[in-house]
Amino acid sequence: MKITQADFKQRRQELLALLPQNSIALIPAASLKTRNRDAEYAFRQDSDFYYLTGFNEPDAVLVLMPGRLEGESVMFCPPKDPAMEIWTGYRAGPDGCVNALGMDQAFPLDQLDSQMPALINGRSVLCYSQGHDAPFDLRVNAWLEALRLKVRQGAVVPQIVMMLDSWLHEMRLYKDEAEIAVMQRAAQISAEAHSAAMMKCQPGMYEYQLESFIQHYCAMSGARFQAYSPIVGGGANACILHYIDNNAELKSGDLVLIDAGCELDNYASDITRTFPVNGRFSEPQKALYQVVLDTQIACIEAMKPGVPWGEIHDLSVRLLTEGLLSLGLLKGDLEELIATEAYKPFYMHRIGHWLGMDVHDVGLYKQQGEWRPLQAGMVMTIEPGLYVAPDNMDVDPCWRGIGIRIEDDVLVTETGHHVLTSAVPKTIEDIETLMQTGA
Ligand code: GLY
Ligand code: MN
Ligand code: MN
Repeated sequence: MKITQADFKQRRQELLALLPQNSIALIPAASLKTRNRDAEYAFRQDSDFYYLTGFNEPDAVLVLMPGRLEGESVMFCPPKDPAMEIWTGYRAGPDGCVNALGMDQAFPLDQLDSQMPALINGRSVLCYSQGHDAPFDLRVNAWLEALRLKVRQGAVVPQIVMMLDSWLHEMRLYKDEAEIAVMQRAAQISAEAHSAAMMKCQPGMYEYQLESFIQHYCAMSGARFQAYSPIVGGGANACILHYIDNNAELKSGDLVLIDAGCELDNYASDITRTFPVNGRFSEPQKALYQVVLDTQIACIEAMKPGVPWGEIHDLSVRLLTEGLLSLGLLKGDLEELIATEAYKPFYMHRIGHWLGMDVHDVGLYKQQGEWRPLQAGMVMTIEPGLYVAPDNMDVDPCWRGIGIRIEDDVLVTETGHHVLTSAVPKTIEDIETLMQTGA
């Protein structure tokens, strides 16, 4: 099942129906970003823009104007330019945006600054994600100022500027059938890639070499890009939450943490597994790993419609603290340790996050001050972890430098939940068997 142009059009219709009367909404595409001198990073479209258009060219702007007779969906896009297309490839051009994407009207980008003040003129509400894209903010300001200067000729400047996020990001938070199918495929590819990396791992390998097996597997399965920079941390590097140097040698006796997930059709997957470099967990590694695994499984089990987001996090805090207490890394009374956040040196992040087109996807976590209840169609990660800093002198030396996180992607369903990433092993027995026998 694929996301089609009809789906993108349907999303525009849905958003148009939510927008205030007589409003105008602006959704800019991403721009190419310089890596060094005149070399650019691979292009990644802005997720809001792609969600509404399926259009993968840089610098375009989608304009939505509910009730406009000449057309409600207008695109400004790079013009057809045979000379440039020899260098940078095919462009749809305005005609392509109308014919292939189903826009009502489309204009070349060089008309944006001259046309926008006229399009905004007379619209009472201007909706866009202010503060997200500084150069675009400056352009919008210039269009508003150009309109202000024409007030004596009868121009009417919007009275209200509103954030677009509340409508658009709520739409993105609930995944439909086609989106779930893409996310399931991305999750499956990443799960298989993690299994492949487990089987390839050897002491003496460098972290970035282990990373390359993940990237290779994903690419060979049709997912060219990763959804974020993979984290591959051997030994105490696993305790650095956003470690992306990935340049250390993997040592026998250490664990290695891999947090990586591919992106497919601009949808993310996000998996973490932690396993022994030499294929066998030591006793302290096993003990700490089992605490994280039991917590992760219990948190997934607790997921169903109606359960407040915060309850899942609180459950992870309770179970991890209990585990730390039973292993002697924390001492004292369980309730007091939770109340005083004594677990924080070992568990300093939250249980997970929304997952979708962005790895840390959009959508509110709290509404009217309360953690929002889970609902069918939401996808979130469940990723408890325990990290014992190598210089933590308050614990027995056997625990120092062990970092463990286990992360799966979970869809909330009408009746409970579905783990999208279940194809990658996570029990101690299954990991050891896979690493030793390749089965
Ligand atoms: N890979 C980033 C995260 O797990 O949130
Ligand atoms: Mn992750
Ligand atoms: Mn995550």
